[in-house]
Formats: sequence, structure tokens, C-alpha cells
Amino acid sequence: MAELRTIILAAGKGTRMKSERPKVLHQVCGVPILQYVLDVARAAGSLKTYVVCGYQLEAVRNFLGPRHTVVRQERQQGTADAVRCVQKHLSGFRGDVLILCGDTPLLSGRVVKQLVRNHRRTKADCTFLTAEVGDPSGYGRVLRDAGGRVKAICEDNDLSGDQKNNMREINVGVYCVQAPALHGVLKQIKINQGKKEYYLTDMVALMSRGGLRVETVTVADTAEGLGVNSRVDLAFAEKVIRRRILEKLMLGGVTIVDPETAYIRENVRIGRDTVIQPCTVIDENVVVGKSCVIGPFTHLRPGSRIGNNVEVGNFAEVSRSSVGKGCFVKHFSFLGDAQLGDYVNIGAGTVTANFDGVHKNKTKIGNRAFIGSDSVLVAPVSVGKGAVIGAGSVVTRGQKIPDRAVAFGVPAKIKSRRSD
Ligand code: UD1
Ligand code: MG
Repeated sequence: MAELRTIILAAGKGTRMKSERPKVLHQVCGVPILQYVLDVARAAGSLKTYVVCGYQLEAVRNFLGPRHTVVRQERQQGTADAVRCVQKHLSGFRGDVLILCGDTPLLSGRVVKQLVRNHRRTKADCTFLTAEVGDPSGYGRVLRDAGGRVKAICEDNDLSGDQKNNMREINVGVYCVQAPALHGVLKQIKINQGKKEYYLTDMVALMSRGGLRVETVTVADTAEGLGVNSRVDLAFAEKVIRRRILEKLMLGGVTIVDPETAYIRENVRIGRDTVIQPCTVIDENVVVGKSCVIGPFTHLRPGSRIGNNVEVGNFAEVSRSSVGKGCFVKHFSFLGDAQLGDYVNIGAGTVTANFDGVHKNKTKIGNRAFIGSDSVLVAPVSVGKGAVIGAGSVVTRGQKIPDRAVAFGVPAKIKSRRSD
């Protein structure tokens, strides 16, 4: 099978974002837009990716790291010019070239894989993705002959009023092209006199007139073709991706009471029969066990680990902490850099004071310890197994409360011991 390489077009300034940051580095559900596109390329079986950059190239390069080749486009002279910038890297390459735009976070790997598969099955020279949309304004439209064969892509600017309304099949901006055919056609693309840009979309008319085979694949879910151009588009993309994340979790056995107000990152893992109550935020790299109840109004911050059968409830925040099985953290608590054993009870209003102004310090709480309401644990601090901290206590910095001790007061003093 032919080798596949990818070109991602990302040199645009993204003027409508009104931002100091390059458009492709804006985040959707915590992940830069460009990362979604890189994932699509990989899912499609691409072995090498070239990212064409212009505006704030260094920022994009820093994000990409050494795994991908960054190609500079000096002046943004259009999408065909952007592809030409990569040509020297492709000399001698005879496989297929996948061309993607850097601003399409909703595109799925599944659809692009299908595009590549169709391209190879039909032995087409060029296959591109189309969609039927209600409002095609702004997009390039697909022009076909009476037999349904593709003749050209016409850009919105170059269409008459009637054509604009009647042509509803749009060009999504995803192409798979045999490298030799691409090299041949790029030479022939002339500057568009209206926009003073070289349009990659002109390759379709040139190829079809030259007798080369051009095919299309139509994407069913038109949202997939969305290019993020403004912050309004960004919010729309966020909503779609958030919904995808939640659906995956729900299909995996997690109850999400109100998907409208659950904000959960892509790489969060949640066990079966856990219930996510409304207004809950779960950040990246969090793991939640089985049969837990999380929320309402809970924030689990990056890196937290929650065991099985745990309840973390109203207005509780957990940050870089691990919570063992069967614990209760049900009301108004902050756990930061804390390590809880199993069956710990954290009373309402308990706070681990983890930050001393310079360092983040750790709190350790042993199995079956009971922390009374409104206590402050000034880290670094430890509370032993089965120990009890009375309500309203302040366990001061550096204290080590032994196993089964009963301590209370401000500062907390050990008053007695619990029997086994
Ligand atoms: C393009 C297509 C249009 C299609 C639409 C889909 C052309 C001429 N038109 O239009 O048919 O319906 O995408 O969203 O291709 N870029 C560069 N260098 C440049 C110009 C653009 O890298 O000199 C990059 C942009 O950063 C962007 C992508 O190419 O990621 C597409 O460019 P954009 O200006 O958004 O093209 P559209 O007008 O949306
Ligand atoms: Mg665009």
C-alpha cells in the first residue's frame, strides 16, 4: 500500500479570533485545536506530518516539538502556495498526500480514514471531502456535470448570487492526492485575480480537465467540517467535543445526570455506576473509581485519584490528591496535595492548607481517620489511622497525629486515644 504523509495548513493569522495567540493553539476542551488535527492524521495512517506555519511560527513549533516538521510560509499567498512550500520535502515521494486545515477540531479520524480508503479503492488521483449544509456561505462549492462528475470547486467570492444559493455541496477542505499528480498540478495553479491568492481548490478543475480522476466522499455529520474562525466557532466546537466526551463515558456505564453542566476532560477515566451530579468540573488526568457520587458543584483538579465508592459532594475541590475507597468528602472542602487512605471522613468545611507561599506541602491521612467539621490541616502534616480530629481544630504545620489519637483545639492537642 502507498505510504501516506500529511500537510496541515496552519499559516493563517486567524484575524477574526482577535488574539495574540495563533488560532491553531486556541484550546477546545483543554486541547489545542491543532492537536485534534494531528490526531486525525495519525488515525488515518499518516507516517509523517508537515505543518505549514506563518504567524507566530515559533509558538507553533514549541507546541509541536521535534516530532513534526514545521515549514515556513513567508507570505500568506493562499492555500496552494502553502502546499507548494512543502513540495521540496516531498521530492521523490510517490505515495499519497493528505491535506488538512489546522483549524478543524471536529473532523473525525474515522471519516478521514474512509476518505483515504475510498481514494485508494477507486485509484483516484485526488479525493476530497464534501458536505451538504444548510448555510453554505463562505465555503467553496462543488460544481458537477450532468453525470454527477466533479468539474471544479468554486470559491464563494467567485459565485453569482443565484449560484451562491443553489449550490449547497461544500468543500470541507480535506484532500487526499497522489504525490506525482499533486506536483504536476501545483505548477499550473495561477493567482486568483479577485483575492490575489493561489487557490488549492483550483487543482480540482485542472485535474478534471486534464483527464485525471477526482472523487469525493460526503461526510454525514456536517459539524465535522467546521473551521474555527472566531470565538463563536470556538464555543460551538467546545460544545460538540464536550458532548462527545460525555457520550463516551455514558456508553461506558457512567451516569451523567445533566450533560449540560458536566465539564469533563477527554482523558478522564471514570468507573462503572459512578454518578456525576450537575455542575461538576473534572480536569485532565483524573481517575475516578466505580460506584462513586461526584457533585453537585464539585471540582476535581488535574491528577486527582478517587477510589471506589467515594462521595465527593457540594462545593468540594480536590487537587493533586488521592482519595482511597469508601471516603466521604461531602461538603465545602478543599483537599490539595493530600493523600487519604480508605474510609476517611472529611467533615464539612475541612481545608488542607497546602501552600505556604513558596511550596506546596503534603497532607497524609490514614485509613478510617475522622476529620471533624471546619478543621484546618496546615501541611506538611499527617493524621494517623483511625485518628479523630475534633471540629474546628487547627492541626499545625509539621504535626504528626499518631494512629487512633483524638486531638482537638487551636492548635490541636492530643487529648486521648481510641481503643482498637
Ligand atoms: C478554504 C477553501 C474552501 C473551503 C474552506 C473550508 C481554498 C481557496 N478554499 O477556504 O473551498 O470550503 O477552506 O474551510 O482553499 N492557510 C495557509 N496559508 C495561506 C492561506 C491559508 O496556511 O496562505 C491555511 C489557513 O491557516 C487555514 C487553511 O489554510 O488553516 C484554510 O485557509 P482559509 O483562509 O481558512 O480558507 P477558506 O477561505 O476558509
Ligand atoms: Mg477557513
